[in-house]
Amino acid sequence: MLVMEKNQLTEEIEVLIKKYGKERSSLIPILQDIQKQHSYISDYAQQEVARLLDIHPVEVFSVISFYAFLNSSPKGRNIVRLCQTITCDLAGKKNVASAIERELGIKFGQTTPDNKITLEYANCLGMCDVGPAMIVNDRVYYKLDPEKAVSIINEIR
Ligand code: FES
Repeated sequence: MLVMEKNQLTEEIEVLIKKYGKERSSLIPILQDIQKQHSYISDYAQQEVARLLDIHPVEVFSVISFYAFLNSSPKGRNIVRLCQTITCDLAGKKNVASAIERELGIKFGQTTPDNKITLEYANCLGMCDVGPAMIVNDRVYYKLDPEKAVSIINEIR
């Protein structure tokens, strides 16, 4: 069964390579499509992409790690990204983060056991003058305080 799944994933990647081409510039669109289909890019998928594009797996992994929209592990249905860069940090990010962690009973970098919410830190979201800022899925929230952040979290629970 596992072997069948692996072969199926390889076939999917081969189709994507036909669609986008074998150039290095195809890497991101290929990874985006894999993620769209499977919600994350597994170790096996990364190895297969590297093999089929004839590049080193480390290169695939570093692209996934660099871009916040690509995931190498399964995530919750909602992704909360709180800015950790200095301006938001000085504006009270720490208290906001602690309130969210307390409310959900998980730490940043973790996913709730019901797979509903993943907490992540992000770098500057371009909202420095109205920080602390965070993105929940595609929506940006700013001028956060612990109370406001917790009520946003409770809306998506
Ligand atoms: S430092 Fe947080 S949005 Fe820029």
